[in-house]
Amino acid sequence: MNHAHQVYRARRDAILQTMRGKSGGGLALLPTAPEVPRNRDSLYPFRHDSYFYYLSGFPEPEAVIALVAGPDGDRQLLFCREKDDEREIWDGFRYGPDAAREIFGFDEAHPISALKAKLPEIASDRPALFTPLGLFADWDRQVADLLNEVRGRARTGVSAPEEVVDIRAALDAMRLVKDSHEIGLMRRACAISSDAHRRAMAAARPGALEYEVEAELAHEFLTSGAQALAYSSIVASGPNACVLHYRDNNRQMQSGDLLLIDAGCEYQGYASDITRTFPVNGAFTGPQKAIYDLVLAAQLACIDAVSPGMPFHDYHRTAERVLAQGFIDLGLCEGSLDAVLESGSYKQFYMHRAGHWLGMDVHDAGLYQQRGESVRLTPGMVLTVEPGAYIRPAANVPERFWNIGVRIEDDVLVTPAGVENLTAAAPKSVADVEAACRALRA
Ligand code: GLY
Ligand code: MN
Ligand code: MN
Repeated sequence: MNHAHQVYRARRDAILQTMRGKSGGGLALLPTAPEVPRNRDSLYPFRHDSYFYYLSGFPEPEAVIALVAGPDGDRQLLFCREKDDEREIWDGFRYGPDAAREIFGFDEAHPISALKAKLPEIASDRPALFTPLGLFADWDRQVADLLNEVRGRARTGVSAPEEVVDIRAALDAMRLVKDSHEIGLMRRACAISSDAHRRAMAAARPGALEYEVEAELAHEFLTSGAQALAYSSIVASGPNACVLHYRDNNRQMQSGDLLLIDAGCEYQGYASDITRTFPVNGAFTGPQKAIYDLVLAAQLACIDAVSPGMPFHDYHRTAERVLAQGFIDLGLCEGSLDAVLESGSYKQFYMHRAGHWLGMDVHDAGLYQQRGESVRLTPGMVLTVEPGAYIRPAANVPERFWNIGVRIEDDVLVTPAGVENLTAAAPKSVADVEAACRALRA
């Protein structure tokens, strides 16, 4: 067991403790994600389930963690695929139970084919079953079958768990605050994605296709050791920058366009999520710069606001205030700041939230609000800060602003002292962005 795997074992210990505290013990079962067919015998690339991986670091499909908090102590079990010379010729390496137990720090490991036969005994006489509920339909059926199977053995003197708890609530709370192992991986994910944005600025030019820039991003991600994209890259030029979840990435870019890129890699199971907006020809026009400077001011004000103790929702309010005042100053909204905030007229140009938790999932686990109260930030939380302005053509909008879409998104870590920007290496000031764009033509 190496150092990283001690981290996973410690997380499993913490869950076992939670089970004892909540229900006096019990059984936790966590499956990884199912493999998903793409067509015929082709599968989508396998992506582990984040909860499963958080507790194991085990990368293979067809695996289940079982944690037993019993009267005679704790036991940590893994069910996984067996070694199989024939299958390994076709599909590649598998750990097999023996190596998996040793390397990933479990007490026992068994073939996944033995799961159905072994579980009823493991689940007997446990006060509670902790498992994800409603996450995978097939798993829900297996859980129901298991409970019925144990119940069916009542005459042999055993009882089934009376309580079934969705284990995700406890895991969400743990995942919300990142430990140093996670922060190290997120730093790397953010560094790779920052380089990719710099590369994109250098690569974009009038006449090129959006997907050519998308390919540059993917190139940087994969050659830097990232395993996947954290989400589909948005490469949106000209009017497409005003489409929040633009996906086509197939327009030919024109001189005078802005290019909005929202793209981030996944590195060893951790996401990064960066947006930058820059001029395709390397120089902002006056109206583009006016909107860009406004969004940048809002984004910097939001980052400044992030600190331990701050209610999560506060920085969204900061974004709304700065943007709304800017829209008034530019003649895009009418009335006083209070009136514009009250009426929501600014939402014509800014209609999304200022950010979200970031971690294993791009929109990561964790509550934002509890019993009506915003969650307060604590050191170790990672969130995105991503205000934007999207000016679609409309009768009430001066034509010089039409089709300008700007979003600026960084990933920030809450620290005891305040905040650390994990994506500060991606060019952001007007001068830095224009310089990064010129690098391409050199
Ligand atoms: N890329 C997804 C988001 O920014 O939330
Ligand atoms: Mn985001
Ligand atoms: Mn994003």
